[in-house]
Amino acid sequence: MCGIVGYTGGRPAQDILIEGLRRLEYRGYDSAGIAVEQGGKLEVVHRKGKVGGLAETVANLDIAGTCGIGHTRWATHGKPSERNAHPHTSCGGHIAVVHNGIIENYAELRDELTARGHEFTSDTDTEVVAHLVEEAYVDDLLQAVHEAAARLVGAYALAVVCDSEPGVIVAMRKDSPLVVGQGADGAYVASDMIALIDATRDVVVLGDGEAAKLAPEGIRYFSAFGEEIYEPKVTHVDWDVDLAEKGGYPDFMMKEIHEQPRVIRDTLAGRLVDGHLAIDELDLSHEELNLIDRVYVIACGTSYHAGLIAKNLIEGWARIPTEVEVASEFRYRNPIITPSTLVVAVSQSGETADTLAAIRDARVKGAKVFGITNVVGSPVARESDGVIYTKANKEIAVASTKSFLGQVVSLTLLAMLLAQSKGKLTTNQVRLLFRELADTAEQVEVILSDTAAIDEAALACKDARSALFIGRGMGSAISKEGALKLKEISYLHAEAYPAGEMKHGPIALLDDGFPVIAIATQSPVYDKLVSNLQESKARGAMVVAVATEGDEDIKQHADHVIYIPKVRDAFSAITASVPLQLFARSIAVARGCDVDQPRNLAKSVTVE
Ligand code: M6R
Repeated sequence: MCGIVGYTGGRPAQDILIEGLRRLEYRGYDSAGIAVEQGGKLEVVHRKGKVGGLAETVANLDIAGTCGIGHTRWATHGKPSERNAHPHTSCGGHIAVVHNGIIENYAELRDELTARGHEFTSDTDTEVVAHLVEEAYVDDLLQAVHEAAARLVGAYALAVVCDSEPGVIVAMRKDSPLVVGQGADGAYVASDMIALIDATRDVVVLGDGEAAKLAPEGIRYFSAFGEEIYEPKVTHVDWDVDLAEKGGYPDFMMKEIHEQPRVIRDTLAGRLVDGHLAIDELDLSHEELNLIDRVYVIACGTSYHAGLIAKNLIEGWARIPTEVEVASEFRYRNPIITPSTLVVAVSQSGETADTLAAIRDARVKGAKVFGITNVVGSPVARESDGVIYTKANKEIAVASTKSFLGQVVSLTLLAMLLAQSKGKLTTNQVRLLFRELADTAEQVEVILSDTAAIDEAALACKDARSALFIGRGMGSAISKEGALKLKEISYLHAEAYPAGEMKHGPIALLDDGFPVIAIATQSPVYDKLVSNLQESKARGAMVVAVATEGDEDIKQHADHVIYIPKVRDAFSAITASVPLQLFARSIAVARGCDVDQPRNLAKSVTVE
């Protein structure tokens, strides 16, 4: 989704802003722009399309100013166009604003401002902010932004510059993230830490309603009430410097798929102490965990699929009834929540608007909320009662791969913890499970070391118009993630069904060569699944089976077999998901798609 970057200091701002915007490209966007203050005037440049196009335009202009703001836009109000690209300016062009989020009362504000003579040049909700700041401005930009923000309903992260305060950027946020950091050569603001890591590793994550005033001489922080905060909380970012590079892989998705063994190892490191799971961040005693009698997992997209896998584990091991719900549904119904309900919110980005709203709702209703997120200091982390960080490191490709695996491993630990607290798993059983869980890192390495069968199956399916993913039990949850991965990056329609449901409808789709991708690993329902493959083959389908090493019999029922190492069913999601990621990527590449930045998608969905 949209991205913000701002800089003020001693160097020309334009290159810093363009570089920051490039770092934010992974979030998904349709247009980009910058505003740089120069000689008491704001130079504003927007372009539809990629940051590269904006960079070419800017390179031909002579903008030497050292303070500016930039933005990548993902359209919500008004179609993707140059006219709707940020920054947006006030009537005289004296104020420029970039914004992430949605101003819900923008129509009413726009009517009001138009009636007072303001002229609008875009279709966006954001432009009202520029006009409101213009009206409120006397001689203090911070004050004017505070006054303007008081009129806004909705979510916003804002960075604002004004031609009468050279060198000053005012940043303010509500429900949309914003981080600020002091580099050696100036002050920076961005919607995502990744845009700042070249400048500084120590950042301040602004709290809801808080503001920062950036100037070449330093940064000042202010509370939602306008009082100065003298000792803001500093967060240290310890990602690898090269995390934003492809490291020799053809795309970020491939690089991130290959990082998964490391993610498994890092997520498990230090988690087993004397046969007990050490997840101290959750801040709940075994007695308190023992009282939990219902679990909701709330999430969206891929994170929701990690939740489906967790349901199998929590119910299987801990015997606690578990429901998995997409956050956008959960937030608008009236789920049954009591003080003994545990809500687990899963979000890679930690910013997803629906998941955040669901967390708030659950807490108001009295539930304890655990967050599982990949981003330190993210809203999900801050608004949950406890948090487990997946150790995926920054994920750049829009399609989640390594963060999904990190979520599955973290949820597996949580399921084991709940089971141990309820006395359903002994210390020895936990030790054994943990060892096998740790072994999956090596098993994933084995899968990654030879992908010929995956590529061959992908080549056979690349021209299909639709594909069906099937599985049973754990395989059913895995198949959903396989189908999502394929559709989001290859634009090939894919649907996932529990294999036993085929006869109740989807079997009508099958004819000669129709791809059926089956999760056919060893499990208690393996034989049932094989019957479904026979039904598919009988109707001419082209069956691709993900099966357990050594299963020769499966070759009779499948056109393509992708073998993976043997693991217990509980851990099959970790191993079986990897070939499905590679399968989707291989098809997307063969179809000429941009696997890292699929059309219409955004990395963080910060609007409802
Ligand atoms: O950041 P989150 O995990 O909350 O994001 C949820 C979904 O938007 C995300 O998983 C999405 O489905 C990805 N594109 C999946 O690859």
